[in-house]
Amino acid sequence: MDNPIVDHATANPPTAGAPLSDIWASAEWETLRRHRDEMASVHLRDLFAADPGRADRFTGTVGDLVVDWSRQRVTDRTMDLLVALAGRAGVAERIKAMLSGEPVNATEGRAVLHTALRAGPDSAAPAGSAAEARRELERTAALADEIRLGRRLGATGRPMTTVVNLGIGGSDLGPKMAYEALAAYRHDHIRCRFASNADGADLATALSGLNPAETLFVVSSKSFTTVETLTNAATARAWVTAALGEAAVADHFAAATADPEAAVAFGIDPAAVLRLWDWVGGRFSLSSAASAALMIAIGPERFSEMLAGFRAVDEHLADQPLADNVPVRLGLLAVWNRNFWGFGTRAVLPYSRHLRGLPAYLQQLDMESNGKQVRLDGSPVSGQTGPVVWGGAGTDGQHSFHQWLHQGTDIAPADFIVFAEPDSDLAANSGLDRSDLDRHHDLLVANCLAQAKALAFGSGDNGTADGSGGGSDPHGHCEGNRPSTVIMAPRLTPSVLGQITALYEHQAAVQGAVWGINSFDQPGVELGKRLAGPIADELASPDPPELTHDPATNALIRHYRGLRSRPC
Ligand code: F6P
Repeated sequence: MDNPIVDHATANPPTAGAPLSDIWASAEWETLRRHRDEMASVHLRDLFAADPGRADRFTGTVGDLVVDWSRQRVTDRTMDLLVALAGRAGVAERIKAMLSGEPVNATEGRAVLHTALRAGPDSAAPAGSAAEARRELERTAALADEIRLGRRLGATGRPMTTVVNLGIGGSDLGPKMAYEALAAYRHDHIRCRFASNADGADLATALSGLNPAETLFVVSSKSFTTVETLTNAATARAWVTAALGEAAVADHFAAATADPEAAVAFGIDPAAVLRLWDWVGGRFSLSSAASAALMIAIGPERFSEMLAGFRAVDEHLADQPLADNVPVRLGLLAVWNRNFWGFGTRAVLPYSRHLRGLPAYLQQLDMESNGKQVRLDGSPVSGQTGPVVWGGAGTDGQHSFHQWLHQGTDIAPADFIVFAEPDSDLAANSGLDRSDLDRHHDLLVANCLAQAKALAFGSGDNGTADGSGGGSDPHGHCEGNRPSTVIMAPRLTPSVLGQITALYEHQAAVQGAVWGINSFDQPGVELGKRLAGPIADELASPDPPELTHDPATNALIRHYRGLRSRPC
């Protein structure tokens, strides 16, 4: 059963002209709440039966993406009321301010200009930012070509065969997801590996079997202070100098950072230090030099195709009115599901093995953006904000968590992502017959469409487990009415990946704009970082440390030291 949340705001009667910062107290919010109550007993089966044209009307296109939200629990009135809510929240104004470089990241006094990284001639991005981004893109492309063409050699004169990206969060998840997604476009002789975790096993695994003489490290860190990345970089540095000597650092390291001086101090050749800026958030940096490893793998031309895909959606966001704006609609549907139906999570289900890294990438993009509880003015929000984002590739998920999706007592709106064509290189690279691969692909897509259908319509009033009708098996019965959106594109190309990524970047921003929060900072991660430093020293101390933590932490520090045979 749906558990409609009771927002604090509904305990207080709405007031006309509610302060913009408290959208929960607006008349538009209350109207939507009432509308939601009217919808409480409506099933998607009813909505489709009453409106054969529904699927067409609730399908939009942006770039190469066909986006079908007809299996969301909405009517035309719902969409109108959501657009009215966006109007009240000033979503259009917030989008315009972001695109034009105003300091919408108010708590850090920064602009939010990931769109400048892929700006076209008509972009609203400040000319200076767009020009800086173009120059850095050219520098990154030049370095990528030097590596790809074997012109930038290692300390022993050998070409690079492996690029190891050392970064975490947005300095890892984006390039790693894209590297896997664009496997069909990789250089034949250069492979990327990724190490992010403080766990030494991550770096050890990344370096296993590698020859230092043929390995380039990209230290990707906007701040150049992230302890995991600097720890990995120091260990990697020792690995290189042990094999090749101190002078080899300049040949085997590059960096992408907003602190070039720190990178040069590490020993990196200034010509291999690529710029990031404080106006690009880590989780929004896939289209920046933070993806240098990706650009080396797929090449500058393919990377530019990816940027063009981002740009197509940016331009749609900038040009389309709220009512016809696909990323805005998806952001509003996310608010509808989160705040009016109380769905605490959303599932991202790419029916694509190559796109299996997308849910983890979107976890950071969405949850680090909107996992907030205060508004821009510092006052507490009056209701729920960012949901948990999770998911996994289909069809594997059907044999893991789809039981919960269909018959669990909670509901997770699902985003299905599917492509009409398999990767072009699969037959060539695997020796498998193209007709066999087409059969696989038809099966994959059929399962995707079947899952969206089953979630929406269930097994029918008299359905049994196999939907055969006639009596009802309570154990096999699927109630349906479980919302989903289906995104279909011709093929997973660099451009389509850029389009999908931009679609999610912008819908995260739209949700935050409705809630009146700052989607572009991440102050919540700092406390844990601050606490970890002293504890690390206490764990490693040669002498018994004086412990002043809570009793649980103190006991575990002692237990750990005991297990490591260190004096307690
Ligand atoms: O998780 C906090 C965070 O700052 C993320 O926003 C960022 O992507 C990650 O850490 C890495 O930061 P940096 O690129 O500065 O190393």
